[in-house]
Amino acid sequence: PRFAALIPAAGSGTRLGFGVPKALVELNGRTLLDRAIDNLSPLVDEVVVALPAGHSLDQGVKQIEGGATRQDTVFRLLQATEAEFVLIHDAARPFLSAKVIERIKGRVVQSGAVTAALPATDTLVHASGGFWGYLVDRSKTWAVQTPQAFRRNTILDAHLKALQEGFDATDDAGLASRYASNVELVLGDSRLFKVTTPADFELATAFAQIWDQ
Ligand code: C5P
Repeated sequence: PRFAALIPAAGSGTRLGFGVPKALVELNGRTLLDRAIDNLSPLVDEVVVALPAGHSLDQGVKQIEGGATRQDTVFRLLQATEAEFVLIHDAARPFLSAKVIERIKGRVVQSGAVTAALPATDTLVHASGGFWGYLVDRSKTWAVQTPQAFRRNTILDAHLKALQEGFDATDDAGLASRYASNVELVLGDSRLFKVTTPADFELATAFAQIWDQ
């Protein structure tokens, strides 16, 4: 296959506090994970999902067991595909449009490493002990989202080097830029926000009604 979508969905959802894995929580009757799968599957050749231990899906997508950390989960996903390009997308971002997927696919073929990201709109400040330390130049700052897409060899190489050094990053673009490649910033979407806290869940529940119309 040329394009595989890799979906890390093995997190416990501790910060959400529902006592079930976050990816399996429903918004307007559909789980975060089903939403991610349905958004991606029409636009890729293969979908691989990483689930918490003891969970499985009815759908005909490839499923593996996730790891202890997100990075470990993605490393396992990378070994479960032979696709030339991988689109890594967190199940925790359920509002992914075809437009963003196409934008990411279009750019990764050229640059080999890309991430969805949004220019910062809030004032940004570096904190110091709970107080205002100093201003960060917002005009140079982007908030990083997923999907993140890579030539598979490139991101696999970055993961192997990170493993050797014991380096943990919060995402794959962070690993790629440290070890393997320039990472192109591709315009994401504010609707791609990550469902992490109960307040995010409240927003997502309300927005799902609009999204699903
Ligand atoms: O915790 P956070 O929201 O940052 O997790 C981002 C994504 O990584 C989620 O979709 C979560 O399910 C996934 N994850 C995973 N394996 C872990 C931890 C997180 O697949 N061990």
